[in-house]
Amino acid sequence: MATTTQDLPAALGGAPVFVQTARESDTLDRWRQITEEEAQVAYDMTLRNELSGGTPVVREFEQMWRERHDTRFAITVINGTAALHSAMFGLGVGPGDEVICPTYTWICSVSPALMLMAKPVFCESDPETLLIDPDDVRRCITPRTKAILAVHLWGNVCDMDALMEISRDTGVPVIEDCSHAHGATYGGRPCGSIGQVGAWSLQGSKPASGGEGGVVATNDVQAFERACLIGQVNRVAGLDLVTDNYEHLQPLGLGIKFRAHPLGIGIASVQMNKLDELNARRSAYIEAVEAGLGDLPGVEPMGVYPGAERGGFYGFFVRYDAEKANGLSTDRFIAALREEGLGARGNGYPLLHRLPLFADGFDIFTEGRGPLCTPEMGGDYQGYSDGDFPVTEAAVSRLVFLPVLSDPVEDAPQRTLAALSKVLRHSEALARTA
Ligand SMILES: Cc1ncc(COP(=O)(O)O)c(C=O)c1O
Repeated sequence: MATTTQDLPAALGGAPVFVQTARESDTLDRWRQITEEEAQVAYDMTLRNELSGGTPVVREFEQMWRERHDTRFAITVINGTAALHSAMFGLGVGPGDEVICPTYTWICSVSPALMLMAKPVFCESDPETLLIDPDDVRRCITPRTKAILAVHLWGNVCDMDALMEISRDTGVPVIEDCSHAHGATYGGRPCGSIGQVGAWSLQGSKPASGGEGGVVATNDVQAFERACLIGQVNRVAGLDLVTDNYEHLQPLGLGIKFRAHPLGIGIASVQMNKLDELNARRSAYIEAVEAGLGDLPGVEPMGVYPGAERGGFYGFFVRYDAEKANGLSTDRFIAALREEGLGARGNGYPLLHRLPLFADGFDIFTEGRGPLCTPEMGGDYQGYSDGDFPVTEAAVSRLVFLPVLSDPVEDAPQRTLAALSKVLRHSEALARTA
């Protein structure tokens, strides 16, 4: 069959599948994250001067969170980073400790450890799911390991059975970073309630947003009370501490304030009411695209562990294999998709071990103090090099992120597949033009 100009990829002079340019690919989605409803709540709260502290809206939100996630405790904080800081402090992470974290995550998953004088220990991710590899976690455990960071990256869910088995075997607690995975479950249990502590971001781009905000939840009394101790100044007594361990320090605790802005929590309350609908919409779109990938050589869906139900869907990637597409490089594949009007992009986050901070070390507290001081700086931090995580490095270089659509225009899954298919069909010609 003769190829018409119409059939050609836009990169070779044909017509794009989506009329929009790549920059306009947001217009494929009619979902409005913030509506009048959120604005009204913020307006009403402002007029009631509910602008600081543990207001009724904040208390109700925390109660809703406990019920929804089936945890005994939940407190709101200023952001996801503070939630993770509270979680780590809650579990007693401190000077000289080690915290195991995948090298493929956002820096804030592990950066609070630095402020607690603990050392990040990076590990590989499973190349199919891009989530923390439990086998590598086991290899990284030492007598100094104080926490394992299970990051449910892009809304996909870690292998919690394997991680909790390691936790039982070693006594090392698991912190679930659910910042991308609001509403995800594993074995029917809400993510964030399986590990010893769960932490969420409510930052503006997250599936449930307060603009800025975060939540930390746990069933562990000690972790909860210590999370209050570090960040809930003037609010601890009202939160019904269970023991009297820290009563002598009340109500100021350590005098550090991680309390959330009530307006953000008011907005997030509205967002949480829409979360199930948002997740259903996103998963319908993503699953429709994934179901069509079987016909396309060279692209595979992300792996999902048995028992995992993705949620949040903060990112949607396919795994691309250039070898099955006539050697068309990942970058060139992405560029061609973008010319089709599909807002594809590359690997998402820089690998942490490649960042100068972690690769070369840094004298965080000056004068040779802190967990990232190399021998030249007066410490024993060894740093990292490119090539230290070959599995993750290779897997990440093959990721192609596609837009996450919540209320897509008609036929968006079919057209997304058409764009992928067209570029792959012409991969040989495209590879030649590179
Ligand atoms: C995986 C992950 N963990 C933690 C955070 C930190 O959240 P926040 O920006 O609310 O501090 C983020 C933020 O994007 C994140 O992506």
